[in-house]
Amino acid sequence: MKETIEVKEMKNQNTSNILIGVCGSIAAYKTCDLINRLRDNNCNVKCVMTNSALNFITPLTLETLSKNPVYHKMFETGYYTPEHISLADWAGLIVIAPATATTIARMANGLADDLLASTVLATRAPVLICPAMNENMWFHPATKENVSRLKSYGYSFIGPGKGMLACGIEGHGRLVGTDDILKSIFSILKKSK
Ligand SMILES: Cc1cc2nc3c(=O)[nH]c(=O)nc-3n(C[C@H](O)[C@H](O)[C@H](O)COP(=O)(O)O)c2cc1C
Repeated sequence: MKETIEVKEMKNQNTSNILIGVCGSIAAYKTCDLINRLRDNNCNVKCVMTNSALNFITPLTLETLSKNPVYHKMFETGYYTPEHISLADWAGLIVIAPATATTIARMANGLADDLLASTVLATRAPVLICPAMNENMWFHPATKENVSRLKSYGYSFIGPGKGMLACGIEGHGRLVGTDDILKSIFSILKKSK
């Protein structure tokens, strides 16, 4: 299968630094699988969580899986370089999975009021956004406008997919599967090398 070929190719390439942004969505637990798969493919993974994401998954889980510290505090002391700048420079690619309507709106408006949004604003790395939300939120004109603005900045999107949503209805808004996210990641990394 194509996926297997791409995975094998990745193992022969230099290690990539992937920064994963995790937002406050019920789909946040799926990020664990993504982290494992990236590490299996020779990637260094660091995670930044929004404050809302802390309600859905713990830094301890992401830290243990990524084998790196997890970042969520904007105003942490003890570092000489502001964290959003060092993370922005470290990243070869930023993947936001799951990306909420709020974080998409933040980024589309150039806001830098949390660690994830400011890191995205400060980076020169490619950004891949993997949305997850209720169908009405996804099709709201505000979200549509925010998404098209981010696309015009050169940000990539994958999904959302269609299926049973956490709110109990069938529709658009599901975080796409890990395989599809990985394919997008590998294809962006290939282009940016
Ligand atoms: C149980 C629950 C599930 C949620 N799932 C989502 C979701 O999948 N997508 C979304 O955009 N917002 C979702 N929200 C709302 C967000 O958590 C909320 O808008 C928050 O402000 C997002 O902040 P963040 O983008 O900084 O993480 C959910 C809220 C709750 C209580």
